[in-house]
Amino acid sequence: MSHGPATPLTATASGPLTGEAHVPGDKSISHRSLILGAMAVGETRVTGLLEGQDVLDTGRAMQAFGARVTKDGDTWVVNGVGVGGLMEPDDVIDCGNSGTGVRLLMGAAATHGFSVTYTGDASLRKRPMARVTDPLALFGAVAHGRSGGRLPMTVVGAPEPVPVRYATPVASAQVKSAVLLAGLNAPGETVVVEREATRDHSERMLRGFGAQIETRETREGREITLVGRPELRPQTIVVPRDPSSAAFPVCAALIVPGSDVLVPNIGLNPTRAGLFETLRDMGADLTYENPRQEGGEPVADLRARFSPDMKGIEVPPDRAASMIDEYPVLSVVAANAEGTTVMRGVAELRVKECDRIDAMATGLRACGVTVRDGADWWEVDGRGPGGVTGGATVAVHLDHRIAMSFLCAGMAAQVGITVDDAGPILTSFPIFRSLMEELGADFTS
Ligand code: S3P
Repeated sequence: MSHGPATPLTATASGPLTGEAHVPGDKSISHRSLILGAMAVGETRVTGLLEGQDVLDTGRAMQAFGARVTKDGDTWVVNGVGVGGLMEPDDVIDCGNSGTGVRLLMGAAATHGFSVTYTGDASLRKRPMARVTDPLALFGAVAHGRSGGRLPMTVVGAPEPVPVRYATPVASAQVKSAVLLAGLNAPGETVVVEREATRDHSERMLRGFGAQIETRETREGREITLVGRPELRPQTIVVPRDPSSAAFPVCAALIVPGSDVLVPNIGLNPTRAGLFETLRDMGADLTYENPRQEGGEPVADLRARFSPDMKGIEVPPDRAASMIDEYPVLSVVAANAEGTTVMRGVAELRVKECDRIDAMATGLRACGVTVRDGADWWEVDGRGPGGVTGGATVAVHLDHRIAMSFLCAGMAAQVGITVDDAGPILTSFPIFRSLMEELGADFTS
């Protein structure tokens, strides 16, 4: 769903950030728990679900596909219809701002013999969908969208789907997941091969729901084989807290003098934890306390302290997929470090909720930071601790992570930074403002 009028917000330098930051549930895992819950037979119970707009839109969509999604206290309850049991929605499916939502739903529905029309907000309607509809065509689904493969788009599902072998041309967990979800209702084995490992929450959760799914490393990359038409068994799911949301209090603590913040219970799946390794490589005082396993995912408490000695580095390009959503906030840390941070192999950043390289480069330049960029790379010249001038109003282009990144930048800048619209933050981190204020951040509307 689209949000209302723009709500500007300014962050200014405050005292140290201190205390505990309990960030919301993981967005990727939340979407998947609703979708797979709807494709199981019986009642799936989910706690810790991210109640952000993106996930709520997916929940509404699953109802439109025939599942029942309700809330019982703090628990979300999904009564699923079983693999092959999704029903034709009687209206357009509006996925709001969420690329994950629309791409995974397109996959799940594509091997059912009915048509679905999808749309989204102005950001989502600009994003490429052919990366998903191309492999779905191999199952027998046919997509009719706007030029360039954009939403609104109708996908005519395959009445008699065939299984597929597909090597993903882009490193994308959304594409991989769309193919696997489509493969659920195809007979036989569906195989996805990815050259670079992307987040593997779909594989882990499919296994948890009882699907036969195997991953093996081959010369071509990671090969994932799913046996179609399983009976998925309902699950009790505890969603770990989102490392991509944890990134904001962690990075803010690293750049605001005197800070010491504990961010408990963060999912540290290696396909997601690239930012934290990168920060440590830069010299950040960031530790993992109490490491443990929860619900099949590695988890730890993160402690971040003000780190005045961070140095710019060249981020290994093969780490990109494991931190793809974290480059915007990394660039803010880079601006507060000494030396240049180089980020290569990141063309995907240009097709996220907005062109994230362009949005960050433009905003950082307006705040006194030198940034160079090309098609699939960018570099930020650090100005050292407290060296960002700030004082600008930056455009967030309907992108939650751009908004939160610049608000973190404002907390350490010489003059406050204003984002033109904080509304998009509701998509992934609805409690961002109150959580950061409790740590000591200073915001004005
Ligand atoms: C996601 C995958 C990533 C990421 C997005 C969530 C997912 O996109 O940017 O925020 O849940 O699968 P790509 O897989 O397209 O890189």
